[in-house]
Amino acid sequence: MKIAVLPGDGIGPEITAEAIKVLQALGLKFELETAPVGGAAYEAAGHPLPEATLNLAKASDAILFGAVGDWKYDQLDRPLRPEQAILGLRKALSLFANFRPAICYEQLVDASSLKPELVAGLDILIIRELTGDIYFGQPRGRRTAADGHFPGAEEAFDTMRYSRPEIERIARVAFEAARKRNKKVTSVDKANVLETFQLWKDVVAEVHRDYPDVALDHMYVDNAAMQLVKAPKAFDVIVTGNMFGDILSDEASMLTGSIGMLPSASLNDKKQGLYEPSHGSAPDIAGKGVANPLATILSAAMMLRFSLGQPEAADRIEAAVKQVLAQGLRTPDIYSAGTTKVGTVQMGDAVVNALR
Ligand code: NAI
Ligand code: MG
Repeated sequence: MKIAVLPGDGIGPEITAEAIKVLQALGLKFELETAPVGGAAYEAAGHPLPEATLNLAKASDAILFGAVGDWKYDQLDRPLRPEQAILGLRKALSLFANFRPAICYEQLVDASSLKPELVAGLDILIIRELTGDIYFGQPRGRRTAADGHFPGAEEAFDTMRYSRPEIERIARVAFEAARKRNKKVTSVDKANVLETFQLWKDVVAEVHRDYPDVALDHMYVDNAAMQLVKAPKAFDVIVTGNMFGDILSDEASMLTGSIGMLPSASLNDKKQGLYEPSHGSAPDIAGKGVANPLATILSAAMMLRFSLGQPEAADRIEAAVKQVLAQGLRTPDIYSAGTTKVGTVQMGDAVVNALR
């Protein structure tokens, strides 16, 4: 089991160190190799995704990724910015299926921005297509408008596109995932306005014929945004395109209390995956020892389950995290009166102790 560890910038190194500690406490055999990525790699090698880092990622079963980015790189040309590393990895490894579970842990019900009764017991999974849609569609660019409301004015344009096989493979991922859960898929589209998402809706319905044991409904994205804050527990698996998934998964993250709790997985069709917390590099708290490492520790659990064939080890980590929360330990982002405030390293140590 070869794991590439890419800590990155800001709190990245602090939180990945805790996840590695937890992995090493499992008593399994891993080959871990660390490489620079993002701003850290730009400083060291002049590029956010150096050849050596990319080659290590390609040669590994899984990638444990911290986070990249810092305001100090905002002036760099776009191809040299830290965020290009994560886009480059997704593209180079064809990581088309992004899993973002939104689970509201019993002990953190009060940390949610919604009423406790709306989120208690929440356990939904957003599956976002990650390598297509308007984020990658060509052509794109700037030009002088030939027609429209302001002919002759400067305009910008992007292209929304999905091919049938791209939709088919992500739909299958969603139905397979739902089969292991509560057997319900909600496909989110905008088929009433966009041709791309009419094809999306049609293809998802076709693929559904192979999964008669799973319920499927279709929902327009605007309604889905509303339902997520009205009755989030009505969902099981949500599958959607790259842009709608970007927005809805951030919305869903707030239902659970803190972005510091949310893991993610990005997989290709060979089960190779990149595992990272849903949050960024949090430069505002970097180096202070207060970042919540649980999102990264839970990402390592997803890595064991999806890419390394160790579901029992994944269960053990998730149970240890619940135990630590039940003990009342909280990093500042999830702290409330009556609980015990701890730092990044203490939280990691507590998970290791709970594992043992
Ligand atoms: P962010 O997620 O880094 O931080 C947002 C807020 O949440 C901050 O107040 C931060 O302190 C807090 N936060 C985040 N993670 C936390 C944790 N584990 N424990 C406690 N608090 C936590 O998003 P922001 O501020 O918009 O971006 C900062 C940098 O991160 C930017 O350069 C951005 O481009 C980058 N970024 C990188 C991502 C990645 O590597 N995949 C994803 C999102 C942003
Ligand atoms: Mg986002």
